[in-house]
Amino acid sequence: MVGLLDPLKVKKYTFCNRVVMPPMLTNLAATDGSVTDKLVDHYVRRCNMLGLLIIEAAYVSVGGSASEKQLGIYSDLLIPGLKRLAQAVHDKGTPVVVQIAHSGSKAYTGSVGLQPVAPSATDSARELTLNEIEGLLGEFAEAARRALAAGFDGVEVHGAHGVLVNQFFSPLTNKRRDRYGGSLENRMRFPLEVVERIKEEVGNGILLYRIGAEDLTPGGTKIEDSIKLAKRLEELGVDVIDVSGGLCGSRPPQLQNIPGYFVPQAKKIKNKVSMPVIGVGNIKDPRYANSLIEEEAVDLVAIGRQLMNDPDWVLKAVKALENI
Ligand SMILES: Cc1cc2nc3c(=O)[nH]c(=O)nc-3n(C[C@H](O)[C@H](O)[C@H](O)COP(=O)(O)O)c2cc1C
Repeated sequence: MVGLLDPLKVKKYTFCNRVVMPPMLTNLAATDGSVTDKLVDHYVRRCNMLGLLIIEAAYVSVGGSASEKQLGIYSDLLIPGLKRLAQAVHDKGTPVVVQIAHSGSKAYTGSVGLQPVAPSATDSARELTLNEIEGLLGEFAEAARRALAAGFDGVEVHGAHGVLVNQFFSPLTNKRRDRYGGSLENRMRFPLEVVERIKEEVGNGILLYRIGAEDLTPGGTKIEDSIKLAKRLEELGVDVIDVSGGLCGSRPPQLQNIPGYFVPQAKKIKNKVSMPVIGVGNIKDPRYANSLIEEEAVDLVAIGRQLMNDPDWVLKAVKALENI
């Protein structure tokens, strides 16, 4: 029986165990999005004995950041700092990828004076033109190229929590009448094209996709739609699927106290794909995390706030499980 401490091989990479640190914004970057010493220290402190580290969302274009001090990956000038970050984590022997994102209608554009953009207009955002959509695909591809050039082992596309890629997928935020909106096929187009374009840049690296599996709002994304998207992503060459919430966000208040609150969705997706699946949501207890792997509910577990608050969580989990 496979458990939390067993390794997992993805392409040429071996994760030493099934624990993943999921992407979590720290606001420790500089205001231009470049890497700071504090940011490097934050991850070095938490990556010991970790199966895989997914660095927090980095914005792919100037109008797409989520906050003032978010990590950026929108320019080649940022590569040296990103290289320092990837190297520092690799020095600890941990595989590391970076999440790439655009916040769409939710972008913080205060510092650059741009109006946010989205698949469809909102109170604050204007609708993207087809030319701009093409431009964004190029920006995602460029971001992936930079990640690999900086020495990361791959990238994760942020397609959850109501950011731009998720805004295209959800019928609640995508009201377009062209080939990017309307039917499920059309709403999947942007997420799939992002992956297609990134794939060329990631090459032998690891390509992950964080899917917003359910919006938990009437008329929103349902798990059946997400299963279809997950299958298509796998066909396109996504290596690992990371299952979280859609427009409901990563921490829906009504689910907060349930251990493994997005694991049911992850399990349903796992039943229909062959790529490894990450489960997340209020997973604190190492024995519970281990049981999720043993029962084959998921292949990897993400430990977010616990690792944020207790950098030694993995070390303690390993000790606890070794002593069983
Ligand atoms: C402070 C904070 C920042 C986050 N930033 C991101 C992010 O950049 N990208 C992302 O996909 N999820 C983000 N998340 C969601 C986490 O990756 C994770 O899914 C969520 O915290 C639930 O896992 P947990 O219960 O183990 O903390 C963030 C969560 C927190 C608490």
